[in-house]
Amino acid sequence: MKGIILAGGSGTRLYPLTRSISKQILPVYDKPMIYYPLSVLMLANIREVLIISTPRDIHCFKALLGDGSELGMSFEYAVQEEPNGLAEAFIIGEDFVGQSNAALILGDNIFYGSNLSNTLLEASRIESGGVIFGCPVRDPRAYGVVEIDENHKALSIEEKPEFPKSSLAVPGLYFFDNQVFEIAKNVKPSERGEKEITSVIDVYLKQGNLHVEVTGRGLAWLDTGTHESLNNAANFVEAVQKRQGLYIACIEEIAFRKGYITKQQLLDLAKPLLKTEYGQYMVEVAHSVYEKEIITA
Ligand code: DAU
Repeated sequence: MKGIILAGGSGTRLYPLTRSISKQILPVYDKPMIYYPLSVLMLANIREVLIISTPRDIHCFKALLGDGSELGMSFEYAVQEEPNGLAEAFIIGEDFVGQSNAALILGDNIFYGSNLSNTLLEASRIESGGVIFGCPVRDPRAYGVVEIDENHKALSIEEKPEFPKSSLAVPGLYFFDNQVFEIAKNVKPSERGEKEITSVIDVYLKQGNLHVEVTGRGLAWLDTGTHESLNNAANFVEAVQKRQGLYIACIEEIAFRKGYITKQQLLDLAKPLLKTEYGQYMVEVAHSVYEKEIITA
């Protein structure tokens, strides 16, 4: 399976922060926002990732992440000329993904939870169809909303409904089989002029080929769409890291624990960061005796 991070958009809801830089480069406590979705793909054992951003911002991501080889990963980059909708990621990413299945994650979605790794690994093993997540939220009207029956079968999916049929919001993390490219091409733009991911999901739903993984209390899905939620996300990351001494989305740690890089490579990556707690944490990880099972990101 290959991964796509969609990190474009205009970011107008965060103005003036995003007047001259990409939203997904902004800090969430101690690291750039894109580290969080990247860590999610890494936890799903996805090593080849396409990063899509705007013509203005793509160079920032290249400067930040390079070709991925330092992490034992492979990163490629592509431009989305206009924010024409999330489903366009599959049109832009088709050649990159080739014959594989594809995971798409939005560059501003943050996940953290106790069983996250297992959930992701399971989703990444799909042979056919699609896997989405349903996260209970108090007010789902700002999201895609999925309705399920008592057997967790998906009954409907709607984008930003005024009267939601359930409290299950669909976060920006999707796993699809290779049909997704044809489906995305055939999706008609919505009233707001975007190729909606919800329309893609609806095709899988109607085929009876959609699995909805309902998340419980153990998973935190954090929004970064407004100044307040961005600040809340940063506070959450700080609180967890300070309390547990385990970092969220330390991509170098994940690369090391997955065996993509050696202890020496991790120590080398830490060198320029040693003035920070982040860098010091990488050194701790290199020398730690933690068991693989407690990987968290
Ligand atoms: O966050 C989850 C939600 O994301 C889902 O529940 C919705 O079904 C889905 O449509 C999407 O809703 P949003 O209203 O949050 O989408 P938004 O337009 O804010 O875009 C989400 C991110 O993707 C944002 O960081 C900008 C980026 N983006 C967006 C569009 C439309 C792109 O890179 N390209 C685009 O064309």
